[in-house]
Amino acid sequence: MKFFKTIVFVLCTLAFFQNSINAQMNAKKDAEIEQKVEKLLSQMTLEEKIGQMNQYNGSWDVTGPMPGDDYNKIRYQHLTNGQVGSMLNVISVKSIKEAQKLAVENTRLKIPLIFGHDVIHGYQTMFPIPLGESASWDLEAIVQSARVAATEAAAGGLNWTFAPMVDISRDARWGRVMEGAGEDPYLGSQIAKARVLGFQGSDLSANNTLAACAKHFAGYGFAEGGRDYNSTDMSIATLRNVILPPFKACVDAGVATFMNGFNDIGGIPATGHTDLQRTILKGEWEFDGFVVSDWGSIGEMIPHGYAKDKKHAAELAVNAGSDMDMEASAYVENLKALVEEDKVRELAIDDAVRRILRIKFRLGLFDDPYKYCDEEREKNSILTPKNLAIARDVARKSIVLLKNEKEVLPLKKEAKNVAVIGALANDKDVPLGNWRSQAKTNSAVSLLEGIQTVLGENVKYAQGYTLTKGKRNFLNELTIIEEDESKFEEAINLAKSSDVVILAVGEDCYQSGEGRSQADIGLLGSQQKLVEEIYKVNKNIVIVLMNGRPLAIPWIADNVPAILETWHLGSEAGNAIADVLFGDYNPSGKLPVTFPRSAAQIPLYYNHRNTGRPGPVEMVFWAHYTDETNDPLYPFGYGLSYADFEYSNLKVSSPEMKMEDELQVTCTLKNTGKVAGTEVVQLYIQDLFGSITRPIKELKGFQKVTLNAGESKDITFVLRSKDLAFYGADGSFKAEEGDFKVFVGGNSVDLKETNFTLK
Ligand code: NOJ
Repeated sequence: MKFFKTIVFVLCTLAFFQNSINAQMNAKKDAEIEQKVEKLLSQMTLEEKIGQMNQYNGSWDVTGPMPGDDYNKIRYQHLTNGQVGSMLNVISVKSIKEAQKLAVENTRLKIPLIFGHDVIHGYQTMFPIPLGESASWDLEAIVQSARVAATEAAAGGLNWTFAPMVDISRDARWGRVMEGAGEDPYLGSQIAKARVLGFQGSDLSANNTLAACAKHFAGYGFAEGGRDYNSTDMSIATLRNVILPPFKACVDAGVATFMNGFNDIGGIPATGHTDLQRTILKGEWEFDGFVVSDWGSIGEMIPHGYAKDKKHAAELAVNAGSDMDMEASAYVENLKALVEEDKVRELAIDDAVRRILRIKFRLGLFDDPYKYCDEEREKNSILTPKNLAIARDVARKSIVLLKNEKEVLPLKKEAKNVAVIGALANDKDVPLGNWRSQAKTNSAVSLLEGIQTVLGENVKYAQGYTLTKGKRNFLNELTIIEEDESKFEEAINLAKSSDVVILAVGEDCYQSGEGRSQADIGLLGSQQKLVEEIYKVNKNIVIVLMNGRPLAIPWIADNVPAILETWHLGSEAGNAIADVLFGDYNPSGKLPVTFPRSAAQIPLYYNHRNTGRPGPVEMVFWAHYTDETNDPLYPFGYGLSYADFEYSNLKVSSPEMKMEDELQVTCTLKNTGKVAGTEVVQLYIQDLFGSITRPIKELKGFQKVTLNAGESKDITFVLRSKDLAFYGADGSFKAEEGDFKVFVGGNSVDLKETNFTLK
């Protein structure tokens, strides 16, 4: 025992010294970078400085509206005379090398460009859409997925991703709910941190890491009515306690860059918001990277009704702390005159340029501007079997089992009479998701293929419905086929003659994502009708949902015995779903967002406040609808397993906690099922009264625990007063004395409960 203790002591001491050596080395490296930044800055003309603040799109791939042809000529000139600091959407080592050469070889100071792109859920090996991946509650898996995405994108010559999107959203209508981590600030913060770590690794100067970008600062996910780009308005308390925490987590994780939101917030466009960018981000949080505008968002301050023209917009944006102009040309056209007219101080320009150069130095671009441009690496390290295996693993961890009555699942691999129905089941494109970067069209493993790999000839397929017609792509609006029953008969006949029906329904991946908000969040087209028709002839149905937003499907939830939420799972979708359907993987995903019963309930989220009339009471005088329940279809944190879990013995280490104390919360988790399984044990608190009204529950911790059948384990969480802190009425961040409830369980509703008092 003594020997063991000595070893532990020696190891801890070594780790301590190693950490402090690393910290010293990093501090030295940072100091050297600062010197280099200052030296370079002092050599730059005002025009060259402004050039660094200008970002253009490459014509190779467009992710937003583009101006006409003359613009391309000017852009080329700007590139060769030092008036461009960054490009986005230049794809492939060859193109990036060419663009970098233009900048480095033609300009006086040879400052390299930084190349950005939306690497959101993979580069070519596609991972689940971010909302889906968040359902894994598996931070290691999330780090790994971002790591693979970064490795592939960096091998493709890129060095900057516009991810993670960390916007909290409580609105399933908002198309971009697919791109975030859901509705909860705590889970959102943990996932934000994991994604930054995955993209950036521990060394930004390595050639297989990317600078990350926390977006969209701030409030973009609170678009009124869930309509993308719409205005937002919320209290300071909601901004501070709900929206900002994941952004702060990104800063704490060392994120290199931030991106503005398109939205205005309380009447001020985020791009021109001084309080957000200068006071909070760069002041209070001491963020030392740079802020890029969103696509054209500086110019959009004109239609917002905040700037009188582009020049005025440039003035407002730069003074507010937006450092780089994405595709508005507002800075390159106007900043020089604004400085000469004394409307913008050169100090503000210097601050922006310093930040941009700092990140370029940290990326190592000055040592070698072509360090990401290795064609051999590009050939060999993208879409590798290893990356696909990781994508399959992350995909199956992201699946959520919503219902499993009569133990329909898992299916037997010897099953003979299995019907697979639904256009989405035979689709190799939809699972790739909306922000698919460089994924090849139709390159995913379809659900049908995944099932065929297991069942061979013993599976039959019928299409049943057709969901869309015409163009399907990132830029154009999708056309949904509203009514088409021409393929019903074949599907119904197949269902009649089968033992079990696996029925895939949901959404095309181009129904969610940027600019794709929907007022109806149910099943579109003839899907619902088909489900009901099939149910009439065969009740043994497994619904496989593929979707980018929470779906309101109350009829299905009430009637069909088994439902699997599979999101848009990426390249390995079909294999991952088959792993779960046939029990090779026991589902463990939990919803990161509430599923409403109908869109009319939105915003519906678990961490709402109680109101003065929470009800229910017999008369009408309580906070409710007369024609719909307040309950969700599926609550936040919800998800089943093929195992069963029982919670007992919830205790706190003391009924009272002092501000400087730690409180231990313990419970016993038992797997009472017949197979091994993994449970996400969730810890919630409720602060019963405060200087501002408090949510009825707040997630404060979670642990993923794997137990064999019959096995039990004691689980411990530690709460400190900082975990109970919030921005209160006086605007300070602190815990307030008072009574608290503590809950532990497998979702935000079915919980064991105890309490304590904070003194
Ligand atoms: C607009 C989107 O809002 C943003 O998230 C994205 O990074 C940029 N376009 C660049 O494609």
